[in-house]
Amino acid sequence: MNLDLGYLILAAGKGTRMHSDLPKVLQHVMHKPMLGYVFDSLNASGMHARWTVVGFGADAVRSAFPDETNFVLQEEQLGTGHAVVKAWQNVVESGVRYVCVLNGDTPHVPVDDIVEMACQCRMAGAAMGFLTLQLENPFGYGRVVRSENGLVRNVVEEKDFHPNDFGGQIHEVNSGVYVLAVEACSALLPKIDRNNAQNEFYLTQLISLCAAEGLPVVARPYTGRGRLLGINSPRELVEFEESLRGRIVNELLDSGVIIRKPGAVIVGPDVIIEPGVDITGPCEIYGKTHVQRGAQIASHCWIKDSFLGPCQVKSFSHIEASRIGAGASVGPFARLRPGTDIGERARVGNFVEVKKSTLHAGAKAGHLSYLGDSEIGRDVNIGAGTITCNYDGSRKHRTEIQENAFIGSNTALVAPVVVGAGALVGAGSVVTKNVPAGALCVARARQLNLERKSSNQSHSGE
Ligand code: UD1
Ligand code: CA
Repeated sequence: MNLDLGYLILAAGKGTRMHSDLPKVLQHVMHKPMLGYVFDSLNASGMHARWTVVGFGADAVRSAFPDETNFVLQEEQLGTGHAVVKAWQNVVESGVRYVCVLNGDTPHVPVDDIVEMACQCRMAGAAMGFLTLQLENPFGYGRVVRSENGLVRNVVEEKDFHPNDFGGQIHEVNSGVYVLAVEACSALLPKIDRNNAQNEFYLTQLISLCAAEGLPVVARPYTGRGRLLGINSPRELVEFEESLRGRIVNELLDSGVIIRKPGAVIVGPDVIIEPGVDITGPCEIYGKTHVQRGAQIASHCWIKDSFLGPCQVKSFSHIEASRIGAGASVGPFARLRPGTDIGERARVGNFVEVKKSTLHAGAKAGHLSYLGDSEIGRDVNIGAGTITCNYDGSRKHRTEIQENAFIGSNTALVAPVVVGAGALVGAGSVVTKNVPAGALCVARARQLNLERKSSNQSHSGE
């Protein structure tokens, strides 16, 4: 059934309770901004019209989502009702018949429930619907007030809620997920006022406005698995993060990934880990990382936006936007910075930092090196302490080391420079000129062993 359902996301609030200058919807859950979860769920649900209301930190929110269009500016944040009013003209002009309003501080979007609720509203001829939750501790959320026959009368916000007025605590709360019938709500939205404890335009006042006019409202208890709670405080953020973390790790275990110490492993929502991978916690894997079957990741590793073939990552390695080929070994204590490509069977050992560099198959850098802006050929050996001097104070330059070359320990390669295939560079060299293929390069002062002037002078100690 084509319901003509659009989405309106409220993301203009500051998030005062977060105590941060970052707009709340940009706070990260597992290195992904909250609002990103909302967009991704909606993208996965197919084509639809959508708008996002931004205000506090609007430019930061816009630039965090360069592919997203249809931002609506709410310059002054006068409340959720005001935010909807600001975007309403866009909604009406788009021709959608129903619009789902979502709070941008709620990463979990129950798309199936929303679509079903929209159907329910249509069948019941309801002016609006919303999902409700039963909470043991309802503090902070709008309480759902029902009359004796079970019909919803009102939603009362925390600051306006006094249990005694309602015969005690109410545990059913508003989740902040709504479906509005566009035509019916067009007449009601202008009636929202600021007569409440916070002097704000509450979107939830729509519910009592409907009740007053005898318009049906669907209040649909949410029973799904995802945590449909708004994130307002640091505690709520980490609780949400922890629940999502547990769910992801459990699903991975069920799928056939070995996760040792599962309570200490964080795997982000967009990470792909194939069955047959072996991970030991504590360990963090984020972003668009893909780990292939047969890979082993030891404890204390941090990995983001990387592709790992069936390789070995040893403890305490930090890997970002890099690729590691089959049979390669990285770490312990390795740092792969963005743009690193470690070829098949290549090895990167302890205290080696690699940036924007390719190590071709079988190349080795075992100890204490910096390889930046470089191309390291097949089976090259990089001795301990080798440094590519890639920066001249204003620009970066490239180093190329061709296949089978051997770089002696403690060599400084002053880029731009090329070391030809099979060349041998003596330990301690400062290489400033290209080295031809097959050559022996020694670029250091010769050792002089001189005869001492007199062996009975000095050392007198007096
Ligand atoms: C809101 C609901 C409450 C519900 C809870 C669920 C209202 C008045 N209350 O409360 O019933 O239980 O969500 O999580 O709606 N925003 C704007 N512009 C504004 C104000 C807010 O875009 O002027 C955005 C915020 O960025 C946020 C969302 O609206 O993403 C909700 O605002 P928030 O202040 O968090 O509302 P709650 O107090 O949590
Ligand atoms: Ca909230």
